[in-house]
Amino acid sequence: MERIKEAIAKAKERQSETEPVREKAPSAVDFQAADVSDEKIIYRETRVVDLDIAHLEKNRIITLDNEDPNSISFDILRTQVLAKMEANNWRTLAITSPTPECGKTVVAINLALSIAKQTDYTALLADFDLRRPRIANYLGLPNENTFADYFEDKISYNDVMVNPGIPRFVVMPNHRSIRNSTEILTSRKVKAMVEDLRDRYAKRICIFDLPPLQATDDAMAFIPQVDCVLMIVASGETKPAEVKECRRQLQSTNLLGVVLNKVQEASSGYYY
Ligand SMILES: Nc1ncnc2c1ncn2[C@@H]1O[C@H](COP(=O)(O)OP(=O)(O)OP(=O)(O)O)[C@@H](O)[C@H]1O
Ligand SMILES: [Mg+2]
Repeated sequence: MERIKEAIAKAKERQSETEPVREKAPSAVDFQAADVSDEKIIYRETRVVDLDIAHLEKNRIITLDNEDPNSISFDILRTQVLAKMEANNWRTLAITSPTPECGKTVVAINLALSIAKQTDYTALLADFDLRRPRIANYLGLPNENTFADYFEDKISYNDVMVNPGIPRFVVMPNHRSIRNSTEILTSRKVKAMVEDLRDRYAKRICIFDLPPLQATDDAMAFIPQVDCVLMIVASGETKPAEVKECRRQLQSTNLLGVVLNKVQEASSGYYY
């Protein structure tokens, strides 16, 4: 736990070299400023909340700790994902699985943190599992602005963004389940937002945590809006026929790869 605290402190120190002061809440004019870096936008535009290290560990969010043996697997995953995305100029990535509980949300958060911590990209992580949102809960974010309010035109999407105290890491959490999720995910409003998120900054990777493919139409309805997809399968749980069926469903999308999660071997929690 001490190591994670040190890692966060070091990351903040590095950040403070370029961004010494946390700036106040945004104005529309700030956000329109064309020549500020994504890093600066984060501190101008987003609410900053601190993470509880014990809560993260309990929820398997381990990439802040370089010495955790499982973080190496995420380093490898991050390198492979970024290499393929850079080669194709892709910046939006959806994470899904054939069936529930394969570990999509855990992988999405750890991958986003690994990108933010180890590269010069900003990682934006959006909770697009609108029926069973979990990112806020796993990260321990306060129940404040939520995607649901954005969809209902109560706030702008910039108001949804949170910086959990890690430089270059931005979260768009959702705190309550939304019933008409497929309709929302295919709406013009969401399409425009996703395009805006992707096109505004070249050095930003957007990760969308989705529901499983077989549970609802939501994932398949949303996937055409992203550049590429990562599939998570659970060792000993996901059946080969389910993987095959999902690969068939995803055949017209850019499938980056399949993560085999929940592997039992002591030294290797994740494979890519
Ligand atoms: N590598 C792993 N080893 C053991 N347990 C894991 C692993 N990854 C995730 N889990 C656990 O599995 C459960 C489901 O994880 P998670 O919520 O990330 O899955 P999900 O695919 O997002 O689920 P859902 O389909 O409900 O969105 C959680 O309790 C999580 O801690
Ligand atoms: Mg999930």
